[in-house]
Amino acid sequence: MRLDKMLSDMQIGTRNEVKKYIKSGQISVNGNHRVAPELKVHPGEDTILFRGKEICYEAYEYYMFYKPKGCVTARNDNLHKTVMDYIDSKRKDLSPVGRLDRDTTGLLLVTNDGMLSHKLLSPAKHVEKTYEARIRGRVTKEDVLLFQEGLDIGDETPAKPAKLTVLKEGEESLVHVAVTEGRYHQIKRMFHAVGKEVLSLKRLSMGSLKLDSTLKPGEYRKLTKEELLCLKMPEDIEC
Ligand code: URA
Repeated sequence: MRLDKMLSDMQIGTRNEVKKYIKSGQISVNGNHRVAPELKVHPGEDTILFRGKEICYEAYEYYMFYKPKGCVTARNDNLHKTVMDYIDSKRKDLSPVGRLDRDTTGLLLVTNDGMLSHKLLSPAKHVEKTYEARIRGRVTKEDVLLFQEGLDIGDETPAKPAKLTVLKEGEESLVHVAVTEGRYHQIKRMFHAVGKEVLSLKRLSMGSLKLDSTLKPGEYRKLTKEELLCLKMPEDIEC
């Protein structure tokens, strides 16, 4: 890849800034300070220094984002803030993995690793997603059984069995729901099918990845090495 692209991908500066750094000799490639922005470099093989400090290229970026209410799970939107408005990265190929409704909050993975996205979203892989939901009405043991059996939510096929756990029962209930699919408005439609309304919805986990409890809505951080390793693990191996 081009030297200037590699440096701007690594957040050294904008394309114009890195061109200036290159011109002024602040960048070296294998000890050579007289290099051109369009020089082809091989990350991992070439030693690239900025002001004497080595720049290690990362092909992929992985962010855990705590999606706030009102934010749209898309790259662009004319009316609303999108996930990409929150994440400060020069990478143009970052995308959210899966979708959350505009009023849903919680865990969203953002990456440019298409293989991992595919693995997490593929229906065949049955990656479990858990949600916390506030429900208008009393969620009953019958509801738990109906969720377990697989509800008819108006699609060609019923929803796959889901684990519903009631944490607080009352006029308003607090529940956890674990599903292995990602159908449009799935949780809202499942509760609708048992005559109840979702008042708020927050995603807590996706596969082995759990929302960091120290993040606040709108905040994000890079995944740790362990989190990434666990996510990439074959599904038949427990992390
Ligand atoms: N189910 C929903 O109804 N909405 C979401 O955002 C995610 C799952």
